[in-house]
Amino acid sequence: MKMVAANGAEIPALGFGAYGMSRNDMLRTIPVALDAGFRHIDTAQIYRNEAEVGECVQASGLDRAEVFLTTKVWVANYAGGAFAASVDDSLRKLRTDYIDLLLLHWPNPGVPLGEQIAGLNAAVRAGKVRHIGVSNFNRRMLAEAVRLSEAPIATNQVEYHPYLNQRLLIEECRRLGVAVTAYCGMAVGRVFADPVLRDIAARRGRTVAQIVLRWLIQQDGVVALSRTTNPARIPANFDVFGFELSAEDMRAISRLAARDSRIVSPTGLSPAWDPTPALAACPQVGRGPGAHPAGIVKTDVENRQSRRRSS
Ligand SMILES: NC(=O)c1ccc[n+]([C@@H]2O[C@H](COP(=O)([O-])OP(=O)(O)OC[C@H]3O[C@@H](n4cnc5c(N)ncnc54)[C@H](OP(=O)(O)O)[C@@H]3O)[C@@H](O)[C@H]2O)c1
Repeated sequence: MKMVAANGAEIPALGFGAYGMSRNDMLRTIPVALDAGFRHIDTAQIYRNEAEVGECVQASGLDRAEVFLTTKVWVANYAGGAFAASVDDSLRKLRTDYIDLLLLHWPNPGVPLGEQIAGLNAAVRAGKVRHIGVSNFNRRMLAEAVRLSEAPIATNQVEYHPYLNQRLLIEECRRLGVAVTAYCGMAVGRVFADPVLRDIAARRGRTVAQIVLRWLIQQDGVVALSRTTNPARIPANFDVFGFELSAEDMRAISRLAARDSRIVSPTGLSPAWDPTPALAACPQVGRGPGAHPAGIVKTDVENRQSRRRSS
């Protein structure tokens, strides 16, 4: 497994994502994921499945130190004593005495950022958390978090897929030594109908999911998350370390970036996003037959997210 170094943290470059997974999904997939070689699991307080992560990791017989656990503090828990209490609750559910990486899930301007960062740092000082980070932060907020934090900020977990050009944010993360953890790599399924990705996959004898995950982890400082409720897909989704994409294939995938391709942007949680312009060289690419109109996808996800107040 490739590791991504980030301000003192070593993060496994591919993690198994647990967003939206029921207890049943978790019990069917996490053991298969661990068996296939996944050693990084990404959950969150709001996913309400930390307990299943703990249960499955314990049942796997793996040493706790072999598995990298990420969870995220929900925005409603940022203020006062709720922060530390929520971390203790996460530890109990995860059946562990430390979390490898603890993130602020979304910005919450209702609580001073210094107070949120202090909550993360207190958890580190108490030995309950090894590394800390943020999620869905723009460049300005990320730089401020880095400035305010005693312990280094290891990652900014954000939406990143072939249609969303995150170059500006990624450059800032690199400048600050912060890893980018990419979520929604499959762009809620849009990648699977993409002719460019299908062509690269066919030429290489790989699946489209493998091509996209490989494109992500082949970029400096990028960690990818992969989720499936289908256990049969897990071994192939993990099998992305034994091949490389050519520079030409990497560029062709990056050129799929198009305007208005952000999918996850829940009202009331999202910050003022950094610009994600289309790549000028090829603005029409990625609009081929089979691609979902980004606006419709965004509306679906936003609706789902505001209903569940999660992501
Ligand atoms: N920090 C945040 O705010 C935030 C927001 C969103 C997500 N995340 C994290 O990022 C993780 C990954 O993002 P995501 O949940 O959007 O997952 P993803 O890996 O980008 O996409 C998952 C979708 O792709 C499908 N899929 C996966 N592998 C496939 C394959 N080989 N062939 C065909 N379809 C395949 C899955 O369908 P099936 O289930 O049918 O296979 C599912 O619909 C989340 O689980 C969560 O941990 C964080």
